Amino acid sequence: MSRPKAMTVPVLRRMKRDGQKLTMLTAYDSTFARLLDRAGVDIILVGDSVGMVVQGQPNTLAVTVDHMAYHGAAVSRVVERAHVVVDMPFLSYHVSDEEAVRNAGRLVQEGGAHSVKLEGGRERAATIEAIVRAQIPVMAHIGLTPQSFHVQGGFKVQGKTDSEGQRLMEDALAVQAAGAWSIVLEGIPASLATEISEALTIPTIGIGAGNGCDGQVLVIYDVLGMEEDFKPKFVRRYASLGGVVTDAVESYIADVRSGAFPDDAHSFHKRSSPRAKSTARSAARLTDVGATQDGRPDAPLSTGGYGPSESLPA
Ligand code: KIV
Repeated sequence: MSRPKAMTVPVLRRMKRDGQKLTMLTAYDSTFARLLDRAGVDIILVGDSVGMVVQGQPNTLAVTVDHMAYHGAAVSRVVERAHVVVDMPFLSYHVSDEEAVRNAGRLVQEGGAHSVKLEGGRERAATIEAIVRAQIPVMAHIGLTPQSFHVQGGFKVQGKTDSEGQRLMEDALAVQAAGAWSIVLEGIPASLATEISEALTIPTIGIGAGNGCDGQVLVIYDVLGMEEDFKPKFVRRYASLGGVVTDAVESYIADVRSGAFPDDAHSFHKRSSPRAKSTARSAARLTDVGATQDGRPDAPLSTGGYGPSESLPA
């Protein structure tokens, strides 16, 4: 089978010129990354939102380069088509350009990033130039920038006044001039995002920035409705998986407690002895784990590869 066409920087930039919308979603692990890639999303962002949706932090500030390299590697290992962008976390590009290049390099070498993303406008232009000079593609990010949580006073929409809007337009032009190949516009009025998108030659990717951007990004857990009580205005839910997961787990708990799981069909049995079936449960405990029924060493793994797999019922 031929490999799918890779979403490289030149391909993604051409999509703006051709008027094709770019799609981006976050992923933090290989299971979701594989699903998103196979579904055909153009860009997978290993966002520092991992701090909130995976680590349970109140914001993104505690995320480190080690965390991002770890999650980047889990994602990039399985992606075949999508462009993988890994976020540079707070303080990984603020101290010096040299440190920024080194950290961006780690995200490429250890995290498998195709591009890195960093937050900020004109104040980050020199850093973007330095990273791009090291041959690492950069996605910029302006507007509501979560790493400015304490400065912006929380997760607040930016650019609501003319002067704030003008400043954001100048920031967008500055990061483009510095060499960023794309830019995330987060939490800004739709009309301003449209103006910025029209003024730039590089693709804009919006989140809470209306329909005039060249592409859109959302956090995958929001798209899938994992959190019942989290319903921000800018998110459209395409599923309600939180409820599905809860129902499934409640059914599992009930089955285990009642003895309905595992039943005979989900247990391993000795090959020949008719009596073996009736004692399969205890036999499995003694002989089957980690070995096939005929005593060969470990069976080829299926079901994600974390258990003995022979003849599992559908
Ligand atoms: O970390 C993240 O998920 C992001 C997106 C919200 C753009 O930066």
